[in-house]
Amino acid sequence: MKKYLVIGNPINHSLSPKLHNYWLKNNDINGIYDKEQLDSSELKNLIQKIRNQEIHGANVTVPFKKKIISYLDELSPEAKITQSVNTIYLNNKKIIGHNTDVEGFELAVKETKYGVSGKKVFILGAGGVVASIISALIKMKVARITISNRTKSKAESLKNLFNNITIVNWGEIPDFDMIINATSLGLKVEDKINLDFSNIKKNKFFYDIIYNPKETNFLKNARVLGNKVANGKKMFIYQAAAAFNTWHDIYPIIDERINKILD
Ligand code: ATR
Repeated sequence: MKKYLVIGNPINHSLSPKLHNYWLKNNDINGIYDKEQLDSSELKNLIQKIRNQEIHGANVTVPFKKKIISYLDELSPEAKITQSVNTIYLNNKKIIGHNTDVEGFELAVKETKYGVSGKKVFILGAGGVVASIISALIKMKVARITISNRTKSKAESLKNLFNNITIVNWGEIPDFDMIINATSLGLKVEDKINLDFSNIKKNKFFYDIIYNPKETNFLKNARVLGNKVANGKKMFIYQAAAAFNTWHDIYPIIDERINKILD
């Protein structure tokens, strides 16, 4: 039986096993997908297990997406651009790091039918997933990307990867068409982002990477003010589907059951 894993710390909340195990069964693949909480010191050993084919593939989540890179042999173009790896596999005796968050975000935004090309996008946060979002937005030909993060230096360091982004202070709201919450604010139901959007015009697009809770205060307030909103559920599903396709060479079905698993 082939073995797959998602690693992170914490990892308890991860719904990746539910998606992947459903798809494994659905496609008659003799495999199992688990979750494992690791410390940094255990990353090397994990890669060794993939090399020995004790483990056949791994997903990587917070806080290891960057840290894992030093243990890998090669990066896919998407992983290289973002310096972020969420999918690992063995190919021709080499451990490859790939990034399916870029594809996940791109497909999720396309599915909303919001035409992002030529738009001004404002991103809140500068954590692990933001480089993937920027990369997808550049691919989708947005006009401008502005980033704001509580710790400004972290936003500034994204300029080493993408020189065309603008950084503003936390609390400042530049002109935008689409705004993305990529902070962890909203994971707790009572979380509020202390930015006031009541003066902006309607018909902006508010996107939250968070999908649990389904509607953060960020999205709720935006919806009440008359804006278009979407949560991160589809991004999560599409990044998982792309990882599944990377390992099994089968693009899995995304049906109602999959949508329900995450509700
Ligand atoms: P990491 O920063 O380790 O990559 P993450 O979950 O990917 O972790 O990112 C968390 C994001 O939420 C960061 O942008 C963080 O801002 P800092 O870089 O200043 O820590 C942001 N964040 C978390 N709590 C916040 C808060 N109370 N106010 C504003 N931003 C917050």
